Amino acid sequence: MQNFTFYNPTKILFGQGQIAALSAEVPAGAKVLLTYGGGSIHRNGVYTEVKAALSGHAVVEFGGIEANPQFETLMRAVDLARKEQVDFILAVGGGSVIDGSKFIAAAFYHEGDAWAILAEHAAVQRALPLGTVLTLPATGSEMNAFAVVTRASTREKLPFSSPLIYPRFSVLDPTKTFTLPPRQIANGVVDAFTHTVEQYLTYPVNAPLQDRFAEGILQTLIEEGPKTLREPQDYDARANMMWCATMALNGLIAAGVPQDWATHMIGHEITALHGLDHGQTLAVVLPATLQRQRDAKRDKLIQYGRRVWGLSGDDEHIIDEAIGRTRAFFESLGVKTHLRDYGIGSDAIPALVEQLEKHGMVKLGERGDITPQRSREILELCA
Ligand code: NZQ
Ligand code: ZN
Repeated sequence: MQNFTFYNPTKILFGQGQIAALSAEVPAGAKVLLTYGGGSIHRNGVYTEVKAALSGHAVVEFGGIEANPQFETLMRAVDLARKEQVDFILAVGGGSVIDGSKFIAAAFYHEGDAWAILAEHAAVQRALPLGTVLTLPATGSEMNAFAVVTRASTREKLPFSSPLIYPRFSVLDPTKTFTLPPRQIANGVVDAFTHTVEQYLTYPVNAPLQDRFAEGILQTLIEEGPKTLREPQDYDARANMMWCATMALNGLIAAGVPQDWATHMIGHEITALHGLDHGQTLAVVLPATLQRQRDAKRDKLIQYGRRVWGLSGDDEHIIDEAIGRTRAFFESLGVKTHLRDYGIGSDAIPALVEQLEKHGMVKLGERGDITPQRSREILELCA
Protein backbone atom coordinates (compact mmCIF):
# COMPACT_ATOMS: atom_id res chain seq x y z
CA MET A 1 0.00 0.00 0.00
CA GLN A 2 1.20 3.52 -0.73
CA ASN A 3 1.54 6.20 1.96
CA PHE A 4 -1.47 8.45 2.35
CA THR A 5 -3.16 11.19 4.33
CA PHE A 6 -6.88 10.79 4.73
CA TYR A 7 -8.91 13.82 5.76
CA ASN A 8 -12.61 14.39 5.26
CA PRO A 9 -14.40 16.87 7.50
CA THR A 10 -17.82 16.86 5.78
CA LYS A 11 -20.72 15.96 8.05
CA ILE A 12 -23.43 13.94 6.27
CA LEU A 13 -27.11 14.24 7.21
CA PHE A 14 -28.75 11.35 5.36
CA GLY A 15 -32.40 10.44 4.92
CA GLN A 16 -35.91 11.67 4.43
CA GLY A 17 -36.75 14.88 6.31
CA GLN A 18 -33.15 15.93 6.92
CA ILE A 19 -33.55 19.33 5.21
CA ALA A 20 -35.17 20.53 8.46
CA ALA A 21 -31.76 20.06 10.13
CA LEU A 22 -30.44 23.04 8.14
CA SER A 23 -31.80 25.43 10.77
CA ALA A 24 -29.29 24.07 13.27
CA GLU A 25 -26.44 23.28 10.84
CA VAL A 26 -26.14 26.73 9.26
CA PRO A 27 -24.29 28.87 11.81
CA ALA A 28 -26.63 31.05 13.87
CA GLY A 29 -26.60 34.66 12.73
CA ALA A 30 -24.96 33.85 9.40
CA LYS A 31 -26.11 35.74 6.30
CA VAL A 32 -26.58 32.99 3.72
CA LEU A 33 -26.08 33.00 -0.04
CA LEU A 34 -28.53 30.37 -1.29
CA THR A 35 -27.34 29.09 -4.68
CA TYR A 36 -29.25 26.90 -7.09
CA GLY A 37 -29.57 25.90 -10.74
CA GLY A 38 -32.10 26.34 -13.50
CA GLY A 39 -35.21 25.88 -11.41
CA SER A 40 -35.71 22.17 -10.65
CA ILE A 41 -35.79 23.04 -6.93
CA HIS A 42 -38.82 25.26 -7.53
CA ARG A 43 -40.67 22.47 -9.30
CA ASN A 44 -40.05 19.69 -6.78
CA GLY A 45 -40.63 21.47 -3.50
CA VAL A 46 -37.01 21.48 -2.34
CA TYR A 47 -36.85 25.29 -2.44
CA THR A 48 -39.89 25.66 -0.16
CA GLU A 49 -38.49 23.17 2.34
CA VAL A 50 -35.06 24.83 2.38
CA LYS A 51 -36.56 28.31 2.82
CA ALA A 52 -38.70 27.06 5.71
CA ALA A 53 -35.63 25.58 7.41
CA LEU A 54 -33.77 28.89 6.93
CA SER A 55 -36.59 31.05 8.26
CA GLY A 56 -34.40 32.15 11.14
CA HIS A 57 -31.57 33.29 8.84
CA ALA A 58 -31.04 36.24 6.52
CA VAL A 59 -30.91 34.81 2.98
CA VAL A 60 -29.75 36.22 -0.36
CA GLU A 61 -30.52 34.10 -3.44
CA PHE A 62 -28.56 33.39 -6.58
CA GLY A 63 -30.26 31.07 -9.08
CA GLY A 64 -29.40 30.14 -12.64
CA ILE A 65 -26.14 28.23 -12.18
CA GLU A 66 -26.10 26.10 -15.31
CA ALA A 67 -25.05 22.48 -15.85
CA ASN A 68 -21.25 22.59 -16.30
CA PRO A 69 -21.20 25.82 -14.26
CA GLN A 70 -19.82 28.80 -16.07
CA PHE A 71 -17.15 31.10 -14.76
CA GLU A 72 -18.98 34.14 -16.10
CA THR A 73 -22.16 33.29 -14.15
CA LEU A 74 -20.24 32.42 -11.01
CA MET A 75 -18.40 35.74 -11.02
CA ARG A 76 -21.79 37.49 -10.95
CA ALA A 77 -22.55 35.49 -7.82
CA VAL A 78 -19.21 36.54 -6.33
CA ASP A 79 -20.14 40.19 -6.94
CA LEU A 80 -23.48 39.67 -5.22
CA ALA A 81 -21.88 37.82 -2.30
CA ARG A 82 -19.38 40.65 -1.79
CA LYS A 83 -22.00 43.36 -2.11
CA GLU A 84 -24.28 41.62 0.39
CA GLN A 85 -21.39 40.61 2.63
CA VAL A 86 -22.65 37.07 3.07
CA ASP A 87 -20.79 34.75 5.39
CA PHE A 88 -22.06 31.29 4.40
CA ILE A 89 -23.05 29.60 1.13
CA LEU A 90 -25.78 26.98 0.91
CA ALA A 91 -25.67 25.16 -2.44
CA VAL A 92 -28.90 23.34 -3.36
CA GLY A 93 -28.70 21.13 -6.43
CA GLY A 94 -26.47 18.71 -8.31
CA GLY A 95 -22.73 18.68 -8.90
CA SER A 96 -22.83 21.79 -11.03
CA VAL A 97 -24.44 23.97 -8.37
CA ILE A 98 -22.16 22.55 -5.68
CA ASP A 99 -18.99 22.92 -7.77
CA GLY A 100 -20.03 26.42 -8.79
CA SER A 101 -20.62 27.33 -5.16
CA LYS A 102 -17.21 25.99 -4.16
CA PHE A 103 -15.70 28.27 -6.77
CA ILE A 104 -17.74 31.25 -5.50
CA ALA A 105 -16.50 30.43 -1.97
CA ALA A 106 -12.87 30.52 -3.11
CA ALA A 107 -13.18 33.45 -5.53
CA PHE A 108 -14.89 35.57 -2.86
CA TYR A 109 -11.53 36.26 -1.19
CA HIS A 110 -9.36 36.08 -4.32
CA GLU A 111 -7.64 39.30 -5.36
CA GLY A 112 -7.18 39.74 -9.10
CA ASP A 113 -8.60 37.52 -11.83
CA ALA A 114 -10.18 34.47 -10.16
CA TRP A 115 -9.73 32.40 -13.35
CA ALA A 116 -6.17 31.93 -12.08
CA ILE A 117 -7.54 29.52 -9.47
CA LEU A 118 -8.38 27.18 -12.38
CA ALA A 119 -5.90 28.01 -15.11
CA GLU A 120 -2.79 28.69 -13.02
CA HIS A 121 -3.59 26.58 -9.95
CA ALA A 122 -3.37 29.74 -7.80
CA ALA A 123 -3.50 28.48 -4.21
CA VAL A 124 -6.76 29.12 -2.40
CA GLN A 125 -5.79 30.99 0.77
CA ARG A 126 -9.24 31.44 2.20
CA ALA A 127 -12.82 30.47 1.32
CA LEU A 128 -16.31 31.15 2.58
CA PRO A 129 -17.74 28.17 4.47
CA LEU A 130 -20.38 26.23 2.56
CA GLY A 131 -22.98 23.53 3.06
CA THR A 132 -25.00 21.62 0.48
CA VAL A 133 -28.37 20.01 -0.14
CA LEU A 134 -27.77 17.38 -2.81
CA THR A 135 -30.49 16.68 -5.39
CA LEU A 136 -28.53 14.55 -7.89
CA PRO A 137 -26.35 11.62 -6.84
CA ALA A 138 -23.35 11.46 -9.20
CA THR A 139 -20.28 13.57 -8.62
CA GLY A 140 -19.41 13.13 -4.94
CA SER A 141 -18.93 16.90 -4.80
CA GLU A 142 -21.08 16.93 -1.66
CA MET A 143 -18.24 15.28 0.27
CA ASN A 144 -15.05 16.20 -1.53
CA ALA A 145 -12.63 19.06 -2.14
CA PHE A 146 -12.93 19.24 -5.95
CA ALA A 147 -14.81 21.49 -8.34
CA VAL A 148 -14.89 21.80 -12.12
CA VAL A 149 -15.68 25.10 -13.84
CA THR A 150 -16.24 25.95 -17.51
CA ARG A 151 -15.33 29.18 -19.27
CA ALA A 152 -17.79 29.67 -22.11
CA SER A 153 -15.74 32.29 -23.96
CA THR A 154 -12.71 30.02 -24.36
CA ARG A 155 -14.55 26.66 -24.21
CA GLU A 156 -12.35 25.42 -21.39
CA LYS A 157 -13.39 23.15 -18.55
CA LEU A 158 -10.88 22.95 -15.70
CA PRO A 159 -10.78 21.39 -12.23
CA PHE A 160 -9.40 22.81 -8.98
CA SER A 161 -9.10 21.48 -5.49
CA SER A 162 -8.53 22.83 -1.99
CA PRO A 163 -9.16 21.47 1.50
CA LEU A 164 -10.89 24.80 2.19
CA ILE A 165 -13.81 23.89 -0.09
CA TYR A 166 -14.95 20.71 1.63
CA PRO A 167 -18.61 21.31 2.47
CA ARG A 168 -19.10 21.75 6.24
CA PHE A 169 -22.16 19.52 5.90
CA SER A 170 -24.29 17.94 3.20
CA VAL A 171 -27.93 16.96 3.38
CA LEU A 172 -28.68 13.80 1.38
CA ASP A 173 -32.42 13.14 1.22
CA PRO A 174 -33.08 10.40 -1.37
CA THR A 175 -36.70 11.55 -1.83
CA LYS A 176 -35.34 14.77 -3.35
CA THR A 177 -33.96 12.74 -6.25
CA PHE A 178 -37.36 11.25 -7.23
CA THR A 179 -37.95 14.01 -9.81
CA LEU A 180 -34.72 13.43 -11.72
CA PRO A 181 -35.15 12.77 -15.43
CA PRO A 182 -33.93 9.25 -16.43
CA ARG A 183 -31.05 10.78 -18.39
CA GLN A 184 -29.64 12.43 -15.26
CA ILE A 185 -30.00 9.41 -13.01
CA ALA A 186 -28.33 7.24 -15.67
CA ASN A 187 -25.52 9.80 -16.01
CA GLY A 188 -25.13 9.63 -12.23
CA VAL A 189 -24.73 5.86 -12.20
CA VAL A 190 -22.09 6.10 -14.97
CA ASP A 191 -20.26 8.91 -13.14
CA ALA A 192 -20.11 7.09 -9.79
CA PHE A 193 -19.11 3.85 -11.56
CA THR A 194 -16.33 5.60 -13.46
CA HIS A 195 -15.05 7.40 -10.34
CA THR A 196 -14.69 4.02 -8.68
CA VAL A 197 -12.97 2.47 -11.69
CA GLU A 198 -10.52 5.40 -11.98
CA GLN A 199 -9.30 4.66 -8.44
CA TYR A 200 -9.51 0.87 -8.52
CA LEU A 201 -8.62 -0.36 -11.98
CA THR A 202 -4.93 0.57 -12.12
CA TYR A 203 -2.26 -1.85 -10.88
CA PRO A 204 -2.13 -3.92 -7.69
CA VAL A 205 -0.40 -2.44 -4.63
CA ASN A 206 -1.63 -5.02 -2.15
CA ALA A 207 -4.48 -2.93 -0.81
CA PRO A 208 -7.23 -5.56 -0.52
CA LEU A 209 -9.49 -3.46 1.71
CA GLN A 210 -9.61 -0.55 -0.76
CA ASP A 211 -10.16 -3.08 -3.57
CA ARG A 212 -13.11 -4.64 -1.78
CA PHE A 213 -14.63 -1.25 -0.93
CA ALA A 214 -14.40 -0.36 -4.62
CA GLU A 215 -15.78 -3.73 -5.77
CA GLY A 216 -18.65 -3.28 -3.29
CA ILE A 217 -19.54 0.09 -4.77
CA LEU A 218 -19.36 -1.26 -8.34
CA GLN A 219 -21.51 -4.30 -7.57
CA THR A 220 -24.05 -2.17 -5.71
CA LEU A 221 -24.28 0.24 -8.65
CA ILE A 222 -24.78 -2.70 -11.03
CA GLU A 223 -27.63 -3.96 -8.84
CA GLU A 224 -29.25 -0.68 -7.81
CA GLY A 225 -28.68 1.45 -10.93
CA PRO A 226 -31.21 -0.35 -13.14
CA LYS A 227 -33.65 -0.57 -10.20
CA THR A 228 -33.57 3.15 -9.56
CA LEU A 229 -34.18 3.86 -13.25
CA ARG A 230 -37.09 1.42 -13.39
CA GLU A 231 -38.70 2.59 -10.15
CA PRO A 232 -37.87 6.28 -9.61
CA GLN A 233 -39.85 6.37 -6.34
CA ASP A 234 -38.16 3.31 -4.80
CA TYR A 235 -36.67 4.95 -1.71
CA ASP A 236 -34.23 2.15 -0.94
CA ALA A 237 -32.85 2.04 -4.47
CA ARG A 238 -32.38 5.83 -4.51
CA ALA A 239 -30.82 5.77 -1.04
CA ASN A 240 -28.35 3.07 -2.05
CA MET A 241 -27.52 4.87 -5.27
CA MET A 242 -26.98 8.13 -3.40
CA TRP A 243 -24.63 6.65 -0.82
CA CYS A 244 -22.67 4.81 -3.52
CA ALA A 245 -22.10 8.06 -5.42
CA THR A 246 -20.88 9.85 -2.29
CA MET A 247 -18.58 7.01 -1.25
CA ALA A 248 -17.15 6.73 -4.77
CA LEU A 249 -15.41 10.10 -4.56
CA ASN A 250 -14.89 11.17 -0.96
CA GLY A 251 -11.29 9.99 -0.66
CA LEU A 252 -11.94 6.67 1.06
CA ILE A 253 -11.25 4.32 -1.85
CA ALA A 254 -8.41 6.54 -3.11
CA ALA A 255 -6.36 6.19 0.09
CA GLY A 256 -3.08 4.39 -0.53
CA VAL A 257 -3.71 3.33 -4.14
CA PRO A 258 -2.67 4.62 -7.59
CA GLN A 259 -5.26 6.67 -9.48
CA ASP A 260 -5.95 7.01 -13.17
CA TRP A 261 -8.31 9.94 -14.11
CA ALA A 262 -7.39 9.87 -17.83
CA THR A 263 -11.00 9.10 -18.77
CA HIS A 264 -12.19 12.16 -16.84
CA MET A 265 -9.61 14.53 -18.31
CA ILE A 266 -10.37 13.41 -21.87
CA GLY A 267 -14.09 13.58 -21.09
CA HIS A 268 -13.85 17.17 -19.84
CA GLU A 269 -12.44 18.24 -23.22
CA ILE A 270 -15.34 16.53 -25.01
CA THR A 271 -17.85 18.44 -22.87
CA ALA A 272 -15.99 21.72 -23.38
CA LEU A 273 -15.92 21.42 -27.17
CA HIS A 274 -19.11 19.47 -27.89
CA GLY A 275 -21.41 20.00 -24.91
CA LEU A 276 -22.02 16.34 -23.98
CA ASP A 277 -23.16 15.66 -20.41
CA HIS A 278 -20.31 14.67 -18.09
CA GLY A 279 -21.70 11.13 -17.69
CA GLN A 280 -22.07 10.70 -21.44
CA THR A 281 -18.40 11.51 -22.01
CA LEU A 282 -17.37 8.92 -19.45
CA ALA A 283 -19.55 6.22 -21.02
CA VAL A 284 -17.75 6.90 -24.30
CA VAL A 285 -14.18 7.17 -23.01
CA LEU A 286 -13.96 4.57 -20.23
CA PRO A 287 -14.34 1.41 -22.38
CA ALA A 288 -11.80 2.85 -24.83
CA THR A 289 -9.29 3.68 -22.07
CA LEU A 290 -9.60 0.16 -20.65
CA GLN A 291 -9.09 -1.31 -24.13
CA ARG A 292 -6.03 0.82 -24.96
CA GLN A 293 -4.51 0.27 -21.51
CA ARG A 294 -5.38 -3.41 -21.25
CA ASP A 295 -1.75 -4.51 -20.93
CA ALA A 296 -0.87 -1.91 -18.28
CA LYS A 297 -4.06 -2.71 -16.38
CA ARG A 298 -3.95 -6.45 -17.00
CA ASP A 299 -3.87 -7.76 -13.42
CA LYS A 300 -6.62 -5.47 -12.21
CA LEU A 301 -8.77 -6.05 -15.29
CA ILE A 302 -8.70 -9.78 -14.55
CA GLN A 303 -9.56 -9.14 -10.89
CA TYR A 304 -12.38 -6.79 -11.95
CA GLY A 305 -13.75 -9.35 -14.40
CA ARG A 306 -13.67 -12.19 -11.91
CA ARG A 307 -14.91 -10.38 -8.82
CA VAL A 308 -17.27 -7.71 -10.15
CA TRP A 309 -18.71 -9.53 -13.16
CA GLY A 310 -18.25 -13.12 -11.93
CA LEU A 311 -16.33 -14.14 -15.05
CA SER A 312 -14.16 -17.23 -15.46
CA GLY A 313 -12.07 -18.81 -18.19
CA ASP A 314 -8.76 -17.75 -19.68
CA ASP A 315 -7.33 -14.34 -18.95
CA GLU A 316 -7.74 -12.78 -22.41
CA HIS A 317 -11.35 -13.85 -22.51
CA ILE A 318 -11.98 -12.36 -19.06
CA ILE A 319 -10.45 -9.03 -20.10
CA ASP A 320 -12.48 -8.85 -23.33
CA GLU A 321 -15.65 -9.76 -21.51
CA ALA A 322 -15.01 -7.34 -18.60
CA ILE A 323 -14.62 -4.40 -21.00
CA GLY A 324 -17.62 -5.57 -23.01
CA ARG A 325 -19.81 -5.90 -19.89
CA THR A 326 -18.83 -2.39 -18.80
CA ARG A 327 -19.93 -0.95 -22.13
CA ALA A 328 -23.11 -3.05 -22.15
CA PHE A 329 -23.96 -1.87 -18.62
CA PHE A 330 -23.75 1.79 -19.67
CA GLU A 331 -25.81 1.11 -22.80
CA SER A 332 -28.41 -0.77 -20.72
CA LEU A 333 -28.89 2.43 -18.70
CA GLY A 334 -29.56 4.32 -21.93
CA VAL A 335 -26.17 6.08 -22.06
CA LYS A 336 -24.55 5.71 -25.49
CA THR A 337 -20.90 4.72 -25.64
CA HIS A 338 -19.55 5.97 -28.99
CA LEU A 339 -18.80 9.48 -30.22
CA ARG A 340 -20.79 8.78 -33.39
CA ASP A 341 -23.92 8.25 -31.27
CA TYR A 342 -23.66 11.94 -30.39
CA GLY A 343 -23.05 13.08 -33.96
CA ILE A 344 -19.29 13.52 -33.46
CA GLY A 345 -16.99 12.19 -36.19
CA SER A 346 -13.30 11.25 -36.14
CA ASP A 347 -12.51 14.67 -37.61
CA ALA A 348 -13.14 16.09 -34.09
CA ILE A 349 -10.21 14.16 -32.57
CA PRO A 350 -7.26 16.47 -33.44
CA ALA A 351 -8.88 19.48 -31.74
CA LEU A 352 -9.58 17.41 -28.61
CA VAL A 353 -5.95 16.28 -28.44
CA GLU A 354 -4.80 19.88 -28.96
CA GLN A 355 -6.93 21.00 -26.00
CA LEU A 356 -5.42 18.27 -23.81
CA GLU A 357 -1.94 19.49 -24.73
CA LYS A 358 -2.89 23.09 -24.08
CA HIS A 359 -4.08 22.14 -20.60
CA GLY A 360 -0.93 20.19 -19.77
CA MET A 361 -2.74 16.83 -19.88
CA VAL A 362 0.25 15.15 -21.51
CA LYS A 363 1.12 12.44 -18.98
CA LEU A 364 -2.22 11.05 -17.94
CA GLY A 365 -3.06 7.80 -16.21
CA GLU A 366 -1.73 6.00 -13.15
CA ARG A 367 1.69 5.61 -14.76
CA GLY A 368 1.74 8.91 -16.63
CA ASP A 369 2.06 6.97 -19.87
CA ILE A 370 -0.96 8.44 -21.64
CA THR A 371 0.74 10.95 -23.90
CA PRO A 372 -1.18 13.06 -26.41
CA GLN A 373 -0.49 10.35 -28.99
CA ARG A 374 -2.06 7.73 -26.74
CA SER A 375 -5.02 10.01 -25.96
CA ARG A 376 -5.50 10.19 -29.72
CA GLU A 377 -5.51 6.39 -29.90
CA ILE A 378 -8.04 6.24 -27.06
CA LEU A 379 -10.24 8.78 -28.86
CA GLU A 380 -9.98 6.74 -32.05
CA LEU A 381 -11.34 3.76 -30.11
CA CYS A 382 -14.22 6.03 -28.97
CA ALA A 383 -15.32 6.81 -32.52
O1 NZQ B 1 -30.31 23.25 -12.89
P1 NZQ B 1 -31.48 22.53 -12.40
O2 NZQ B 1 -32.78 23.12 -12.80
O3 NZQ B 1 -31.41 22.24 -10.91
O4 NZQ B 1 -31.51 21.08 -13.16
C1 NZQ B 1 -30.48 20.13 -13.06
C2 NZQ B 1 -29.61 20.06 -14.31
O5 NZQ B 1 -30.33 20.46 -15.45
C3 NZQ B 1 -31.10 18.77 -13.01
N1 NZQ B 1 -31.46 18.35 -11.66
C4 NZQ B 1 -30.68 18.28 -10.56
N2 NZQ B 1 -31.37 17.76 -9.52
C5 NZQ B 1 -32.63 17.53 -9.97
C6 NZQ B 1 -32.68 17.90 -11.33
N3 NZQ B 1 -33.81 17.78 -12.05
C7 NZQ B 1 -34.91 17.27 -11.43
N4 NZQ B 1 -34.90 16.86 -10.13
C8 NZQ B 1 -33.78 16.96 -9.37
N5 NZQ B 1 -33.77 16.52 -8.11
O6 NZQ B 1 -30.09 17.90 -13.50
C9 NZQ B 1 -29.33 18.59 -14.48
C10 NZQ B 1 -27.86 18.25 -14.34
O7 NZQ B 1 -27.37 18.74 -13.12
P2 NZQ B 1 -25.78 18.82 -12.84
O8 NZQ B 1 -25.60 19.40 -11.50
O9 NZQ B 1 -25.11 19.46 -13.99
O10 NZQ B 1 -25.37 17.28 -12.86
P3 NZQ B 1 -24.23 16.52 -12.08
O11 NZQ B 1 -24.57 16.36 -10.65
O12 NZQ B 1 -24.00 15.31 -12.87
O13 NZQ B 1 -22.95 17.49 -12.13
C11 NZQ B 1 -22.12 17.55 -13.27
C12 NZQ B 1 -20.99 18.52 -13.04
O14 NZQ B 1 -20.13 18.09 -11.97
C13 NZQ B 1 -18.77 17.99 -12.47
C14 NZQ B 1 -18.98 17.69 -13.92
O15 NZQ B 1 -17.82 17.94 -14.68
C15 NZQ B 1 -20.12 18.63 -14.28
O16 NZQ B 1 -19.65 19.95 -14.47
N6 NZQ B 1 -18.01 16.99 -11.68
C16 NZQ B 1 -17.66 17.32 -10.43
C17 NZQ B 1 -16.86 16.51 -9.65
C18 NZQ B 1 -16.48 16.87 -8.28
N7 NZQ B 1 -16.78 18.06 -7.80
O17 NZQ B 1 -15.86 16.08 -7.58
C19 NZQ B 1 -16.34 15.23 -10.16
C20 NZQ B 1 -17.03 14.76 -11.38
O18 NZQ B 1 -16.17 13.86 -12.04
C21 NZQ B 1 -17.45 15.83 -12.33
O19 NZQ B 1 -16.36 16.25 -13.15
ZN1 ZN C 1 -17.08 12.33 -12.85
